[in-house]
Amino acid sequence: MLFEKEVERVGYLSRSVPEGIDLAKEILRLKKEKNAVILAHYYVHPDIQKLADHIGDSLALAQVSKRTESDIIVFCGVHFMAETAKILNPSKKVLLPDLHAGCSLADSADEDAFRAFKNQHPHAVVVSYINCTAKVKAMSDYICTSSNAVDVVNAIPADKEIIFAPDENLGKYVQKMTGRKMHIWEGACIVHVNISMDKLNGLLVKYPDAELIAHPECLTEVLDKAHFIGSTKALLEYVQRSTASTFIVATEAGILFKMREAVPHKKIIPAPALESNTCACSECPYMKMNTLEKLYNALHYELPEIKLDEEIMVGARKALDNMLAIS
Ligand code: 13P
Ligand code: SF4
Repeated sequence: MLFEKEVERVGYLSRSVPEGIDLAKEILRLKKEKNAVILAHYYVHPDIQKLADHIGDSLALAQVSKRTESDIIVFCGVHFMAETAKILNPSKKVLLPDLHAGCSLADSADEDAFRAFKNQHPHAVVVSYINCTAKVKAMSDYICTSSNAVDVVNAIPADKEIIFAPDENLGKYVQKMTGRKMHIWEGACIVHVNISMDKLNGLLVKYPDAELIAHPECLTEVLDKAHFIGSTKALLEYVQRSTASTFIVATEAGILFKMREAVPHKKIIPAPALESNTCACSECPYMKMNTLEKLYNALHYELPEIKLDEEIMVGARKALDNMLAIS
């Protein structure tokens, strides 16, 4: 795999950081010295969120990437997010602290299989969730995120057939909200589908006044019970405006840090994962590959860098711009 070769070539992952340094201080120093901006998704560790210039959901971070004037973008998130930043602002150097930080949704749709799926529906407009590779983006007409998927699909003329990929649960949710019948790719987020409905039911009995709020990547059975469904940013905004004082949050546990900061007087309960007996939280193993040490090394060595084929970037940018024009 290309990433592995690159990691091997660079060999930087095995480099430790200098002993005794104040990592947070050094990261901020390097960031200033190199005119870099640090972007962090809500799912990364709070220690990284604290150092970031911008924290957001995938739509907000794509919008920031497009307009930043910094020379370097350090993307503390996952691979498809850093690729998106590079596509939207190709003259910038885009760094991802760990090139292995992937995503089960992006992995579910490889280029060849996706082309074959498209060929089965040659007249369909292709809407791809931003959680996909740059190659799949380049084969799409529109990109969407969990913030704007319903708006993007609603913007497509009613007489058009639609392919929606790669998240089946988001696809089913959008189908329900728009009334559009779509050809949906069967990919899933390993974190959101691992939230246990049985354990959620137990929590809803224990906290009868709590509101269940959920990310649309969750299973339909979870979404059907939710008081509110939205992207990570929308969930964060919801706990601030709702009059409820207790929330059960069905998404990745990284968002809890910002939620508790925003509403310290409210009770925020993470949705339990199927298999967990110890920590009740649902954590994305890819997002958690971002560490302060790797962030320091990324800034210090200016590696690993996201590199993309120009032709793929042009196609993917068109689909991303079609989304941004609607958002
Ligand atoms: P958001 O669009 O809410 O940031 O979601 C991205 C993601 O990867 C959720 O698992
Ligand atoms: Fe991908 Fe799920 Fe992790 Fe989001 S939480 S990056 S969808 S694996």
